[in-house]
Amino acid sequence: MEILDSIEAMRAWRRSLPTNVRIGFAPTMGNLHAGHISLVDQAAIDSDKVVASIFVNPMQFGANEDLDAYPRTMEADLEKLEAAGAAAVFTPTIDDIYPEGVDHHTAVEVPGLTNVLCGASRAGHFKGVTTVVSKLFAAVQPDVAAFGAKDLQQVLVIKKMVRDLLLPIEIVTVPTMRESDGLAMSSRNGYLTPSERQLAPHFSQTLANCAEAIRTDHSAIETALEAAREALNAHGFKIDYLEARKTFDLSTATSLDEEIALFGAVFLGKTRLIDNRVISSS
Ligand code: PAF
Repeated sequence: MEILDSIEAMRAWRRSLPTNVRIGFAPTMGNLHAGHISLVDQAAIDSDKVVASIFVNPMQFGANEDLDAYPRTMEADLEKLEAAGAAAVFTPTIDDIYPEGVDHHTAVEVPGLTNVLCGASRAGHFKGVTTVVSKLFAAVQPDVAAFGAKDLQQVLVIKKMVRDLLLPIEIVTVPTMRESDGLAMSSRNGYLTPSERQLAPHFSQTLANCAEAIRTDHSAIETALEAAREALNAHGFKIDYLEARKTFDLSTATSLDEEIALFGAVFLGKTRLIDNRVISSS
């Protein structure tokens, strides 16, 4: 596996490949778990060679968020990517990506989809994501890129960016990987204390129950959401949001007349967890 630790090295490697080699891409912020490896696996199905990236992107963290604490486990990550069969890993530095600093950098912004849910709670977050993903796309030049469904809003935002900017990249959504008790895999799960870790699966279970209630009675979205909010409060979660939205444009879902999804973000102690459940009308 090639380790490409600068934009220059990434570009040189990319140029060395025959033009008919199809490149799959799995962008990550490191601290890899099985969910990330499933991105590599999916990218491999759709391409000839997979590039993964590891870059903890300062631009997508708010001032009071966990940028400094975010787990950095480069050595273990490289071993996992090698075992997963990645052809190369792109590990640019912050100076490489933001030579004049984050505040003086051109930004890519997707309107609409980014004002709600995580976009409303985390000002500037999606601007940071779309800017860095644009840069990673420009350096890697993938034919296909894989993103995890756990961050469903992020996937919808990236898909719109790719459509709007005419980027010739296919975006594939990879199903959420879960622990055996249902908790969605996330690098942030490592912040949970043992007692919080025991409580955490109630979040995914409550979302699953709420989705089932809506499937059974399409007209009762608000009632089901209220019951789910009460259940989460009773388990000690602090709710950031729990909402049902259309996956088409993230507008509020009023009935199950098209595909909708439940989106949730909660705090358990200091740890913010997100999860979602898609509910199809068919
Ligand atoms: O999903 C993530 O890990 C990040 O948001 C991404 C896409 C790697 C951009 O930094």
